[in-house]
Amino acid sequence: MGKVISVANQKGGVGKTTTAINLAASLAAIEHSTLLIDIDPQSNSTSGIGIEPKSVSQSIYQILVDGVEASEAVIKTDLPYLDLIPSHINLVGAEIEMIDRPKRERILSEALESITDKYDFVIIDCPPSLGLLTINSLTASDSVLIPVQCEYFALEGLGQLLNTIKIVRQHLNRELEIEGVVLTMYDTRTRLSSQVAEEVKRYFGDKVFEAVVTRNVRLAESPSFGKPALLYDSMSAGAQNYLALGRELIIRNRKLFKSSPVFSTESTEN
Ligand SMILES: Nc1ncnc2c1ncn2[C@@H]1O[C@H](COP(=O)(O)OP(=O)(O)OP(=O)(O)O)[C@@H](O)[C@H]1O
Ligand SMILES: [Mg+2]
Repeated sequence: MGKVISVANQKGGVGKTTTAINLAASLAAIEHSTLLIDIDPQSNSTSGIGIEPKSVSQSIYQILVDGVEASEAVIKTDLPYLDLIPSHINLVGAEIEMIDRPKRERILSEALESITDKYDFVIIDCPPSLGLLTINSLTASDSVLIPVQCEYFALEGLGQLLNTIKIVRQHLNRELEIEGVVLTMYDTRTRLSSQVAEEVKRYFGDKVFEAVVTRNVRLAESPSFGKPALLYDSMSAGAQNYLALGRELIIRNRKLFKSSPVFSTESTEN
């Protein structure tokens, strides 16, 4: 099994990394074995989960460029159910190094075949571009989760992302679905946020998750302590928002995760 989900949006700073780290941590907290993969040269997911990118010997770079086995780059994290494949600054040059390779869009997909089944979820934090790294991620994924920041021009550029998804479906990965759209940095005090939310819902309909991520300082602080918000301040709005997103994701994928602890608490409550 193992559902592979790319967190993607080529727009910078919309909350991809915050979503990847905290969603992965939430799924792990609900006792679903989860692998977080950092495929962004900025390595923010790697440092944000407490791993110093310069200290790793095997990373996503060696998997993509040197053909290292994916399992050799897996690192355990502070959460028992959460593993990480880190990024490395060398990844900056990877797109160029991969360019002449046969089936260059499928390198990640083939590399993950051997380990996906060990996990319930594989969450991939994509860079803010639609280049070869993101294409590799989309080709390796069952679905895409799109974070949309609640601000002016929120929908701008999403057409390009949807077009890329369409092209990947046509040529590389027919099964690729849109998992959903998550609204990030929602500010409950402003009308702008609710207006953006309405606009996004008009465009994406029920693909928009009910769980909304509000603007929360704990989410911005926790990466500097190398922790997901759940381990930094578990009762913070940010940690709780991402737990709700994790639950909703599992419920939406009920068919795959019938025995999830999410459903056992539901049935005891009823
Ligand atoms: N809900 C939130 N509340 C407060 N700050 C947030 C929230 N979500 C993200 N941030 C902050 O906004 C900034 C951008 O978020 P993040 O790094 O997750 O975006 P990104 O899409 O991964 O960026 P990039 O495109 O550079 O990879 C970060 O400083 C992060 O801490
Ligand atoms: Mg990022």
